[in-house]
Amino acid sequence: MFSRVKRWLWRLLTPTQIGILQRPSLLLTKPTIGQVNFGDLRRTTPIAAGWGLDRGHPVDRYYIENFLAANRQDIRGRVLEVESNRYTLRYGGDQVTQSEVLMPVAGHPGTTIVADLTSADHVPGDSFDCIILTQVLQNIYDYRAAIQTTKRLLRPGGVALITVAAMASLVYGEDGDFHDYWRWMRLALEKDFLAFFEAQKLKVEAWGNVLTVTAFLYGLGSGDLKREELDTNDPNCPLILTVRAVK
Ligand SMILES: C[S@@+](CC[C@H](N)C(=O)[O-])C[C@H]1O[C@@H](n2cnc3c(N)ncnc32)[C@H](O)[C@@H]1O
Repeated sequence: MFSRVKRWLWRLLTPTQIGILQRPSLLLTKPTIGQVNFGDLRRTTPIAAGWGLDRGHPVDRYYIENFLAANRQDIRGRVLEVESNRYTLRYGGDQVTQSEVLMPVAGHPGTTIVADLTSADHVPGDSFDCIILTQVLQNIYDYRAAIQTTKRLLRPGGVALITVAAMASLVYGEDGDFHDYWRWMRLALEKDFLAFFEAQKLKVEAWGNVLTVTAFLYGLGSGDLKREELDTNDPNCPLILTVRAVK
């Protein structure tokens, strides 16, 4: 019924008027049920494996790296990062006086501290000016204990820069020390951090939108999207959540 009215209406309108009605915000452009054109997305497996690494750059890294770039002034002094110090060096540069790389198990190249972030009792407290935890908490079952340890390890005034996966991510398998446990809603993550950090020293933000979430799920990369698409943030549908927490 609705499509008949639409066809009839379309005949009466000029191309300019149709153009106005086709703006995404207007109801008339919503495809009717069963008429959605899924195109390349009409499939039940991702288009590519590898989180978009082979298609420019992973979409989630667009937000993670923008967040670190925007907070680069915090990456200074003695800095701790998990798995490698690539972001410490890229964004901290000359401001970093000592770079430490933490891993939960020994043997990973570049590791300077072997510790499980849920306890890390052998690592002295008040030790770091900055702790960078990108995409780490989702791999720790007792992530609240890891937040507590992060607070303990920071020097007073030190800053934790943290990112976690929100509604969507890709899990292709679990092996070795890679265990994927959690996704967060922004409100829950904020509450988790408020248990350890003061509200005025905490900022939790959401990044991404339904298109970038979908692209990430399909294994597409940032090269598959337009800049303005990546830069549109819909708080109801984030891909990544970021936390800046000051001790
Ligand atoms: C998805 S990777 C992220 C690595 C890196 N930060 C990045 O941005 O690509 C998650 C990392 O968390 C580490 N990890 C898992 N459980 C941990 C724990 N209990 N304590 C410390 N690190 C842990 C893993 O070893 C792995 O290196």
